[in-house]
Amino acid sequence: MTRIVRAASEHIGAVLEIERAAFSQPWTYNSLLEETQAPQSRFMLAADGARVLGYAVTRYYPDWAEILRIAVAEGSRGRGVGSMLLGDAQARACESGASRVLLEARADNAAALEFYRNRGFITVGLRAGYYASPGGDAVLMEKSIAPRRGDIGDW
Ligand SMILES: CC(C)(COP(=O)(O)OP(=O)(O)OC[C@H]1O[C@@H](n2cnc3c(N)ncnc32)[C@H](O)[C@@H]1OP(=O)(O)O)[C@@H](O)C(=O)NCCC(=O)NCCS
Repeated sequence: MTRIVRAASEHIGAVLEIERAAFSQPWTYNSLLEETQAPQSRFMLAADGARVLGYAVTRYYPDWAEILRIAVAEGSRGRGVGSMLLGDAQARACESGASRVLLEARADNAAALEFYRNRGFITVGLRAGYYASPGGDAVLMEKSIAPRRGDIGDW
């Protein structure tokens, strides 16, 4: 059964493997580790027992949240793991009082853009030349959500 759990230092090795396969500019071991401890961040894993299937890193601010990373191991894609991670990030955003969720994706990452569009995100901007090696534009996406301030559990 796939569960969403908080990432800790012992998971970083498995996350790094997914990260390096999924992104042309992967985060380093240390930057991933820092996100497990950053007070504004939630670094969540989709795990099946001890196996890490995917992860999401989201930062929460008073009125909005930003998804910095969502990635699923290649062999586990297309089975709803990414949707679970996105749903969890969005639920936490609601509970923290945010009214919108933002993210950036590469303009040439058609699968990711489609994934987000199908889940209610709309394009709100384009950052030309935002990415280096390989170069590319960033699409800014946003989704409005209904905040439920004061309803925070153990998030
Ligand atoms: C974007 C990503 C996180 C989606 O994760 P996922 O676990 O495949 O997501 P889901 O299974 O919930 O949904 C994937 C969608 O692709 C479709 N799909 C079908 N087979 C698929 C496959 N083999 N691989 C990927 N997607 C597939 C699903 O039907 C679903 O379509 P829908 O949007 O119409 O529902 C994943 O593709 C990924 O890790 N990509 C690389 C990293 C990345 O680009 N991250 C986002 C940039 S910020």
